[in-house]
Amino acid sequence: MSDQKEFSNDGACSGDTIQVLKGQHVDLKNKLKEISDEIKKSRSDFGDIPDKLRKFNIELANHAEFENCAFYQPLLKKMEGQGFDIDDIKEFIAEMTKLLNVVKDFTQRYDKAEMIQNDTASFSSDLSAAMAELETRIVAEEDGVFIYW
Ligand SMILES: [Fe+2]
Repeated sequence: MSDQKEFSNDGACSGDTIQVLKGQHVDLKNKLKEISDEIKKSRSDFGDIPDKLRKFNIELANHAEFENCAFYQPLLKKMEGQGFDIDDIKEFIAEMTKLLNVVKDFTQRYDKAEMIQNDTASFSSDLSAAMAELETRIVAEEDGVFIYW
């Protein structure tokens, strides 16, 4: 994630910031889709899924951190400076954090392949729920607040 450090959070790289964030959204969705595809393979022992979840969780945390300092914080500053009431945005950020935590909880729940082997149906339904939460967050951001940038 060192390449992300180049982006200043003063809005100077505004076009790039949105592009980077959207690229990360695609990557995150693809990572969960990959796991979802693996679950459907009858021959898999799911041995690598806990590691994939662990890596996904790191990527998710890095994304949230970058999004906060390169997007949300400068956006709040900008809107406040222009006299907007930023309470709605703050509320939105809190909602987004809740969605993120649901996804994070899921990634941390299945840390052993046996858990997935023993109850693949539960894992599968939890994975679908996490994918839906992630999608909700991404759509809300891209169609909601990104347009204020
Ligand atoms: Fe995001």
